[in-house]
Amino acid sequence: MKTVLLTGGCGFVGSNLAIYLKTAYPLWEVICFDNLKRRGSELNLKRLKAAGIRFVHGDIRNKEDFDELGKVDFVIEAAAEPSVLAGIDTTPDYLINTNLLGTINCLNFALKQKAGIIFLSTSRIYPFALLDQVAFEELETRFNITNDQQIRGVTEKGISTDFPLEGARSLYGATKLSSELLITEYCELLGLNAVINRCGVITGPWQMGKVDQGVIVLWMARHYWKKDLTYNGYGGQGKQVRDILHVQDLFRLVDWQLNNLSAINGKIFNVGGGLECSLSLRELTSICEQLTGNRIHIQPVPENRKADLRIYVTDNSLVTDQTGWKPAYTPQKIMQEIFEWIKNNEEELAFILN
Ligand SMILES: NC(=O)c1ccc[n+]([C@@H]2O[C@H](COP(=O)([O-])OP(=O)(O)OC[C@H]3O[C@@H](n4cnc5c(N)ncnc54)[C@H](O)[C@@H]3O)[C@@H](O)[C@H]2O)c1
Repeated sequence: MKTVLLTGGCGFVGSNLAIYLKTAYPLWEVICFDNLKRRGSELNLKRLKAAGIRFVHGDIRNKEDFDELGKVDFVIEAAAEPSVLAGIDTTPDYLINTNLLGTINCLNFALKQKAGIIFLSTSRIYPFALLDQVAFEELETRFNITNDQQIRGVTEKGISTDFPLEGARSLYGATKLSSELLITEYCELLGLNAVINRCGVITGPWQMGKVDQGVIVLWMARHYWKKDLTYNGYGGQGKQVRDILHVQDLFRLVDWQLNNLSAINGKIFNVGGGLECSLSLRELTSICEQLTGNRIHIQPVPENRKADLRIYVTDNSLVTDQTGWKPAYTPQKIMQEIFEWIKNNEEELAFILN
């Protein structure tokens, strides 16, 4: 019998992990703690309630909001302002206060409780200018990482944790890397038990996709409701590539980590769909067209925006080697699930995704 706290537990990742956890361990207490800042997180309240999960309305920026939580064995830190564009055209206060100062409150809470913590970090901790220097070839529908690389930590399989860290990475990435640095100190010097997962794009049903975050769901939603899109940057051809990870695949890793935390204490992993579960925007468009039967206008915008990336694919070798975990989903299967979720919840989701 364990108690697991999910900060950001009403968000896309938090709510799905909470429900998978409660299903796998019906006797465990699962608590979702969230300030409901993200539009659409409120839709998850009834799913969580139906699954027997406790909701606590709280804000990780406020230390005193943790007081009513009681004894906790694990914390999964998934509360964040997750947009890579946050703080660039607006004030960065909310981003920094949540993603860094709020995370410190979570670390102190976990330490006090002697609870293990899983931190959801991001591939955005890697500097964008250097990622754009990765050698690539241009294929008919996508850019592709080649095997003749000059930079450490990159092969045709993707980006590993050996990739250099010097350079700007976005304010979002900087708050996450700062939190990682503190976690390493807390583990080494204060006795915290923690693991850090640097995730690439995570997606699946119940992601409230919007222009600056959750683009995979946004793409499907725009096809579903026949709205326009743009191919931004890199010539406007839609050839930029990401690997995508289904949140259920992430759950299988988190489950293993909860049960084996002492074996991986202080470790940092890159975690993503990997090359086999990667796709370009153009390829994403084809899948969305095939599933919805709709063709929409996609305007090319050739100019790059700040912090854009041509290609990011996760090299999962380290995490697979140390935990045996591998993602199982294909892009087609992920998109099929997202399509069915939108279709089955069309009325409710139209307010948020349309
Ligand atoms: N979705 C992805 O592709 C992705 C990729 C890499 C890392 N991550 C990380 O995973 C975590 C979860 O991301 P997500 O996609 O579920 O985002 P999300 O926006 O869906 O969920 C985040 C949740 O945190 C809540 N929240 C925001 N500020 C808060 C605060 N101050 N106090 C309490 N709750 C607060 C929001 O209301 C929301 O419900 C984040 O840390 C994010 O950086 C996500």
